[in-house]
Amino acid sequence: MFEIKQKDNRGRIGLLKTNHGTIKTPNLMPVIHPRKQTIDVGKLGAEIVITNAYLIYKDENLKKQAIDEGIHKLIGFDGPIMTDSGSFQLSVYGDIDITNKEVIEFQELIKTDIGTSLDIPTAPYVTREKAEKDLDITLERAKEAIAYKNENNMKMLLNSVVQGSTYPDLRSLCADELSSFGADLYPIGAVVPLMESYKYSDLVDVVMSSVTHLPDSVPRHLMGAGHPMLFALAVAMGCDLFDSAAYILYAEDDRFLTTRGTYKLENLQEMPCSCDVCNSYTPDDLRAMDKKERAKLIAEHNLKASFAELRVIRQAIADGNLMELVEERCRVHPLLLDACRRLGKFAEDLEIYDPRIKKSAFFYTGPESLNRAEVLRHLEKLKNMPKKRDLVILPSSRKPYSKYLSDNLGDFYVYGCEMEIDIENTDFMVFDIPFCLIPLNLDEVYPLSQNESPKIKDTGALEFVENFISEFIEYYDQTLISSKVIKELNIGLYNIHNESNLIKFPKNDEQKVKDIADYQFGIGAGEALFEGDLKIEKSKKTGKIRHVYSNGELIANMRASDAFFVLAKEGARRLHRIKKFPENRVIVNKDSEPFAREGKSVFSKFVTDCDSNIRANDEVLIVNEEDELLAFGKSLLNHNEIMDFNVGQAIKTRKGNI
Ligand code: GUN
Ligand code: ZN
Repeated sequence: MFEIKQKDNRGRIGLLKTNHGTIKTPNLMPVIHPRKQTIDVGKLGAEIVITNAYLIYKDENLKKQAIDEGIHKLIGFDGPIMTDSGSFQLSVYGDIDITNKEVIEFQELIKTDIGTSLDIPTAPYVTREKAEKDLDITLERAKEAIAYKNENNMKMLLNSVVQGSTYPDLRSLCADELSSFGADLYPIGAVVPLMESYKYSDLVDVVMSSVTHLPDSVPRHLMGAGHPMLFALAVAMGCDLFDSAAYILYAEDDRFLTTRGTYKLENLQEMPCSCDVCNSYTPDDLRAMDKKERAKLIAEHNLKASFAELRVIRQAIADGNLMELVEERCRVHPLLLDACRRLGKFAEDLEIYDPRIKKSAFFYTGPESLNRAEVLRHLEKLKNMPKKRDLVILPSSRKPYSKYLSDNLGDFYVYGCEMEIDIENTDFMVFDIPFCLIPLNLDEVYPLSQNESPKIKDTGALEFVENFISEFIEYYDQTLISSKVIKELNIGLYNIHNESNLIKFPKNDEQKVKDIADYQFGIGAGEALFEGDLKIEKSKKTGKIRHVYSNGELIANMRASDAFFVLAKEGARRLHRIKKFPENRVIVNKDSEPFAREGKSVFSKFVTDCDSNIRANDEVLIVNEEDELLAFGKSLLNHNEIMDFNVGQAIKTRKGNI
């Protein structure tokens, strides 16, 4: 019932299928009050809503009507409806008179699309004893609810809420346990007090310790999150659904929700956006209005601003610049910036979920960007790549560096030095922020070329790069650093060379294609793919490498936008020969084999195993269990997601029949 269509970082654009239609995620469920609702949220763009089954259950009239006609008629919404169980009332009033089984049965009876068991919302910062005791009950009820649903063949989908207060290990434990029960959706609960008190960095810990232990194939809902300034951050952490009572609660208090924060009507001189409400009224008009009428209009703005932000977020995922959006949004409040910085603690996990290749350039927006997946990934690659004896570090110039550091003849010059340079035995790299060092042969590869950082450098970035370089040069016998770089780094660690004689070294396209293949497919790939009599064809217009042939046969095409290779049949065969099982591979079962051979896309459910190193957008080999090469293609998901999903496409096959 859930499928991922596009990804960026841990964020995903998904499709969630319910009994009342399919909705796109990330999405926001406005809270509908079963008695007091005056706003038609469907008209304002809601595709899915949430209401409270317990409030309906407690009201004899509503209860009867809901049982007779169903909840969709009762609240006047014919799309998917989620219901909460009364847990929140339990946390506020301390007691409610309905059992877990009763509330499950009732939700199915009124034909809710997604029901919720009676979890215990354990507040943040309670004692560990309290958190553990509550968690036992939450888990027991979740298990009971799922068993009850299954025994009775219930049609609704079921939420199991992750609790555990602000203890990351309890959140993880809860997520692990709930995952083993197999719920349909996993809300993350009891986070409203964290959001209300601006404890956004603790919120990051709570969400990350939960999502990292939840299955990738099941949607997650950040319960009670209704402020649009938080959505981008939450989506980047892997949250798919939000719910909002905030739109109406804030409106009743004359407050406007925006991605820049909250505005109070009494302070407004200008309307904060360009929705219908903000276009049609002035702050004075609203202040002069009857309170109820005004609240309705502000609520309309609040919902429209929230839906607009979700559209912006989904577009950012599609474009591959979700983290740029997060970094932007988190600058509206210092405590949100803290949250963005806290996310850096989870960089290794985020790297696993982040596609290696994106449509958008990487923007360095400040020291927070140093923790991004792209940077981490590149530095790991640098550490692991084979190294020559000596290293030369060149100053950065316009990108791509190899073009602007070379003269008309395509040769590079290094301004003289005290050390002997043996070109064959030297790695040439360019100093860069934030990627530290960029091997010249990789300077067109994503995102080493497709990135921008401010010309005026911040000390955080300089320190970061400096630390990396001082460790990295330990791999080499000798390092020559351009005096321009030394000036930037403002460190006296290196021997300053005199700038007299010129050293010239030639561009080597054969080495370049091999280096790129190693960077893309792993060490050894370059030699294997491009052995034999090579012919490198370049675009007449741009001079960029386009096709590589060996012994007259096409091996790979280089994509102009990111300089990564798309394999041709012979390239796939060669990569398959050199790489050990299961490297670069997706292994499909017998049923799927004929389809893969025909070049049809591979669905997750047919994959029995795959290389743990696969990230979304990687080029992969498709093999059967005997490791026969069937086809090759582009992965749409990472290893964890491919293995976890049972529906949807995993690999877009490029070619079969090989
Ligand atoms: N609404 C906001 N927080 C929670 C929670 O922790 N559990 C439930 N069931 N509903 C909520
Ligand atoms: Zn507005």
